[in-house]
Amino acid sequence: MPSSLYLGVETSCDETAAAVVRDGREVLSSKLISQITVHQEFGGVVPEVAARRHLETINVVIEEAMKAASVTPGQLSGIACTVGPGLVGTLLVGLSAAKALSWAWDRPLIAVDHLLAHVCANYLGTDLEPPFVALLVSGGHTQIIHFADYRQATILGQTRDDAAGEAYDKVARLLGLGYPGGPAIDRISEKGDPMAFKFPEGVVPGYDFSFSGLKTAVMRTVEKLPEPLPVADLAASFQEAVTSVLVKKTLRAQKDLAAERLVLAGGVAANRELRRKFREQSPVPVYFPKLELCTDNAAMVAAAAHFCGKPAELDTGVYSRQQ
Ligand code: KG4
Ligand code: ZN
Repeated sequence: MPSSLYLGVETSCDETAAAVVRDGREVLSSKLISQITVHQEFGGVVPEVAARRHLETINVVIEEAMKAASVTPGQLSGIACTVGPGLVGTLLVGLSAAKALSWAWDRPLIAVDHLLAHVCANYLGTDLEPPFVALLVSGGHTQIIHFADYRQATILGQTRDDAAGEAYDKVARLLGLGYPGGPAIDRISEKGDPMAFKFPEGVVPGYDFSFSGLKTAVMRTVEKLPEPLPVADLAASFQEAVTSVLVKKTLRAQKDLAAERLVLAGGVAANRELRRKFREQSPVPVYFPKLELCTDNAAMVAAAAHFCGKPAELDTGVYSRQQ
């Protein structure tokens, strides 16, 4: 693949991010302004508020990323931007900024899919190459995907209801742990007993998942328990059920396809118990992005531009659901 230098822009949800990456592997800069504190008081992301915040911070973040990487616009191979799936209003802020720069700097515009970008986070700082089986676990998606090549991805299975991250967020709210729920449950589970409660893993055939039954089971248990709730035990037991089924099905796919590598991606890939289980149980090498590259960031977008981005025009639009 020819050498490249991409500026990546990411605004699909609640992180305003820009980054510069060389050859899809080397992060020259990665800047991010998180909106977590803005949305915390609402207990989740408020799309309109998120879009406004992106609008206020996008130019600053891009400027910082370019400065930190010490590159000039003329050196860029192009400007890569997440175009979906995500919140339409927030995606449009990033895409409009990327279009404006593409036009002003006379550099190509590259459209990047957010889910592919999460997987591409694994190319950063590594020599990973397809084929591999990936487990994508984010706030909006849970999928097992076979990558035959950089651009050739086949979804083997996915959730039939809640995404894994969504389940973490909902259960965290139920346990009074706040938003975002994943990191909170990850932390408090260290102090809990994962065998204290037996929660169902959700029985669905093949490589598909279902997490809504698990969420309901936690809710029913909480309703029957006296105060104060054994929050750490509940969190650890919930986490045990989620991570067990994620690992079990991904390893099954690995075995069935005789895949020689496994790749984890998305916010939930930051989860310590999930990483530990994969390390312990996988018969083949497992790749995880660095912690800060698991959750939304722009370095993964710039990496995706190199490996699987699509040249786009100034009339390119955004999409909210997976295409
Ligand atoms: O990939 P991401 O940043 O955004 C989406 O594209 O959705 O994922 C966010 C999700 C949230 O649901 C958050 O609770 C979860 O990832 N998450 C975690 C951890 N860190 C973030 N879940 C479990 N353990 C973590 N350490
Ligand atoms: Zn994401």
